[in-house]
This record gives sequence, C-alpha cells and structure tokens, in this order.
Amino acid sequence: MERFIIDRHTAQLAVLQRTELISPPLRNLRKVLGRYIFSQFVSKYLINTSEISNKYFLLMENEYLNIKKYLAKNQTILSIGSGIGGLELLIAKNFKSHISLIEKNYISKKIRYGWDIKNNEGYNNLKLQNIFFKRNGVSEKFFKAYDFDNDNFPEKKFDIIISLYSLDYHYNFDVYKDYLKKVLQPNTVMIFDTIRSEYFKKLFKNIDIIKEENNTVHKSKRIACWNFI
Ligand SMILES: C[S@@+](CC[C@H](N)C(=O)[O-])C[C@H]1O[C@@H](n2cnc3c(N)ncnc32)[C@H](O)[C@@H]1O
Repeated sequence: MERFIIDRHTAQLAVLQRTELISPPLRNLRKVLGRYIFSQFVSKYLINTSEISNKYFLLMENEYLNIKKYLAKNQTILSIGSGIGGLELLIAKNFKSHISLIEKNYISKKIRYGWDIKNNEGYNNLKLQNIFFKRNGVSEKFFKAYDFDNDNFPEKKFDIIISLYSLDYHYNFDVYKDYLKKVLQPNTVMIFDTIRSEYFKKLFKNIDIIKEENNTVHKSKRIACWNFI
C-alpha cells in the first residue's frame, strides 16, 4: 500500500491521538513536563514529521488488516472519533466505500487520556483531516465529516460502524446510544475498543473479540458486534 503524505500540523494531531507514535524519550518528557506542555509545545516543536508519518502509516495499516475481514466493496461506513483518519482513508481507497466521520473540531488545551466523564476532550481539526484525505487520493465523493458539536449527524443506515480508541474507550457508549439505534441495521457490524466488553453482551447478540490490549494502563478489548438487541 502507498504510504501517507502528511504535513507537519497533521503529524502533530496524529501524535496527540496516538501517543505510541512518539519515541520513548519524548514520552518520558510528557510525564515529566505534564500534559499541557506536551500538547502545547512538545507535540508542536519536537517531533520529526517524516518519522511520525511512517510510523502512523504502519499503525493504520495494521489496524486495517485487523478489521479487513468485516469489510466489502461499496459499504456505507460510519467512523466515530477517527482522528485524522488514516484507517478510514485506507478503507475508502481500497474498498471504494463512502465514509461518514463524526469528530470533534478542536484541541483541548490539556489533554487527559483517561475516561472523560463529560466527554469534553477533543483533539482533531476537520480542515486538516479534509486536506489529509484529498492529498492522499480520496476525493470528497467518498467521505463527509460531521462536527460533533455543531452538525446534525447523518441519518442513514450503515453497514459498518468503526470507533477505534474513542467510543467506550474515552467516553461512555451512551453518548451515542440513541443515535446508533436510528442508524444500525440488524446486520450492521460495530467495531470498537472498549474497557468493558462484557457489558456489550447485553446489547448485541453476536460479539467477536478481535484485539486485546493487556500491557497498557487502560486495558481494553476490540470487539466486533452485530444484532443490536
Ligand atoms: C485516541 S483518539 C483515536 C483516533 C483514531 N480513532 C485512532 O485510532 O487513531 C480519540 C479521538 O476521539 C475524538 N473524540 C472525542 N470525543 C468524541 C465524540 N464525542 N465523538 C467523536 N469523536 C470524539 C477525539 O477528538 C480523538 O480524535
């Protein structure tokens, strides 16, 4: 697969969304200096754009391979909290599917990566995301972004709904529960990382566990679910 073209500002966003992209010394600096200085200074001035770009591509290619068996040509896809959207870009390109993206359009001053009770945290910029998609060969025919705080969400049935390290990882599934009831079909597959996979046995008839993170502070499972009850 072709690597991504990423500019410096977009690479900065990728680093805020995926801290595993930064090298261990910078990660330690984050612990020493605190999250405010990390998001306002370190992520802006101390990163190597081409290194981040390469690592981000490999990370997203891996995520793509992890969920590929649920994808098919021309599906309608929703992504909740895509970040800049490397995974979604690869799906749109390889499967010619249309992707709707719901995201925040601001960057919190002091990013906290834990469970966000009020769901106030955001670390994206929809203008940069738009440029990232187009610069990497995905035209607006294949994607549309919705600002979580200001836009009406798309009201159509989806084949696949993806949310990596966002819904039920940083904030409660209930934020989207009523909306999801409107856009899920019985065979819609929802793929997301959650810190409480057992809970979803009450909400979906079928659940596959497709990834487990046991070595992080925030232990989670990636589940693919269908047949919403
Ligand atoms: C840890 S990042 C993960 C980004 C991407 N999915 C990935 O795997 O690289 C979490 C993303 O969720 C977004 N986010 C936070 N609250 C959200 C909400 N209510 N709806 C949609 N996106 C949200 C943040 O702005 C951020 O880009």
